[in-house]
Amino acid sequence: MNRKTISFSILSGKGGVGKSNLALNICYALHQLGRKVLLIDCDMGLANMDVLLGIAPEKHVQDILISNQNPADILVPFGPSSSKGSLDLLPANSGMAEFAELDDGARGMLRDKLNPLASNYDFVCMDIGAGISPTVLGFSSMTTLRLVVVTPEPTSLTDSYALIKVLSARHNVQDFYIIVNQVESQSETKKTYSRLSAVCKRFLGFAPEFLCEVRSDRGLIEAVRKQRPLMEIAPRSPAALDCMTAAEKLEHLRKDLLIVGEIDAPLRSVAVHN
Ligand SMILES: Nc1ncnc2c1ncn2[C@@H]1O[C@H](COP(=O)(O)OP(=O)(O)OP(=O)(O)O)[C@@H](O)[C@H]1O
Ligand SMILES: [Mg+2]
Repeated sequence: MNRKTISFSILSGKGGVGKSNLALNICYALHQLGRKVLLIDCDMGLANMDVLLGIAPEKHVQDILISNQNPADILVPFGPSSSKGSLDLLPANSGMAEFAELDDGARGMLRDKLNPLASNYDFVCMDIGAGISPTVLGFSSMTTLRLVVVTPEPTSLTDSYALIKVLSARHNVQDFYIIVNQVESQSETKKTYSRLSAVCKRFLGFAPEFLCEVRSDRGLIEAVRKQRPLMEIAPRSPAALDCMTAAEKLEHLRKDLLIVGEIDAPLRSVAVHN
């Protein structure tokens, strides 16, 4: 039994809401808290974690399936140089249409090959594509927790509700934590979360937990342009501080889960209820 690793996926109904940037910066923040962190780019069709980091890796997560590469040989450390081996990326190759959708067998094979590596880390984060495709649902069901990124836009809210509904009904998972991103005020955060949680409670019978807000921050746009994590270039900026809050909450959740001993393999097998 694995007594160490918590995995979480970062997902959203609507695209372009900030998943990849939050994944990157929350992982960076967890590492600053002293944790060993593995970030996996699971947006196999339109991967872009390499772009956010300004790197051009030679090997990619798809090579595990194509040529049976050892996942450990694909790792790219991306933290401060002193942190080698404790903040690592498994990058994916973008534009490989045949990998945009993986079937159950391929996802299961990937999971089995990733688990031994994943269990060396305290946290494993999967950055997942938007929407409700079988690949999105399959990957996000593998993780211990799911962080759903929403923005105050009504379309983001309705799409996130649809995602939570399908995941809870078909994959029997309920551990959802909401991040309200790109907010201008606390009242906007409150309103956005209350709307989503009310509709979930009414139609699904449960409410997702609130994880944190992430403020709208020009610094993040600048970090994307510079191809560096915001946590590295502006750690005191509003969105960076919010990512640290997210990391601290995840650290608490990890401690709680370790105490009750509920964690099995870092990435678990998925039961689909049709
Ligand atoms: N807190 C924020 N403040 C300002 N801009 C933001 C913030 N979060 C996200 N953005 C903007 O949104 C853009 C898209 O972010 P990102 O690529 O992380 O989204 P995504 O959800 O991963 O997209 P996709 O669904 O295509 O994978 C960023 O490049 C940035 O311009
Ligand atoms: Mg993304």
